[in-house]
Amino acid sequence: MGKKARELVKDFADELIKLLNKAYADELIAVFYYKHAAKMAKGLNAPNVASALEKAAKDEEEHADELAERIIQLGGEPIRDFSKIVPEANCPKVDLPDDWSNLKAILRAVIDAERCAIDVYQKIIDWLKNVGRDPVTWHVVRHIMQEEMEHEEMFETILGEDY
Ligand SMILES: [Fe+2]
Ligand SMILES: [Fe+2]
Repeated sequence: MGKKARELVKDFADELIKLLNKAYADELIAVFYYKHAAKMAKGLNAPNVASALEKAAKDEEEHADELAERIIQLGGEPIRDFSKIVPEANCPKVDLPDDWSNLKAILRAVIDAERCAIDVYQKIIDWLKNVGRDPVTWHVVRHIMQEEMEHEEMFETILGEDY
């Protein structure tokens, strides 16, 4: 970041980097569990569920990259120690079922994860509103949040029942 850009965020960059790093941890965790569930899902509808999980995992990976890029621009470093990923996360686990043929339980766990992510980004947006002058991070987070909402809807539609 250049001098002027640093000046604009200097009062709050450290705290913002922490918030973005926690979201970064959430995204990496989602990639891990979604890809795992996509491989393990069994049953007649498993290919549909797996392809939605693969699609979401790809988006979550992009989110992690976008957050990492912004963290670096702000003068920080994305979490470098993998053992910190779970303790730093807001949503540390996707609570998948033991029975991989229970596609509804897989979908409910993933919907919970998407809802957790929506809350995380809503909180960061509220926090940024108070700070009032970081349109660049705002744009990144707003874009990610929109995709989390699309994921929630996609998985709700596949589940096909009220949850
Ligand atoms: Fe995400
Ligand atoms: Fe998502």
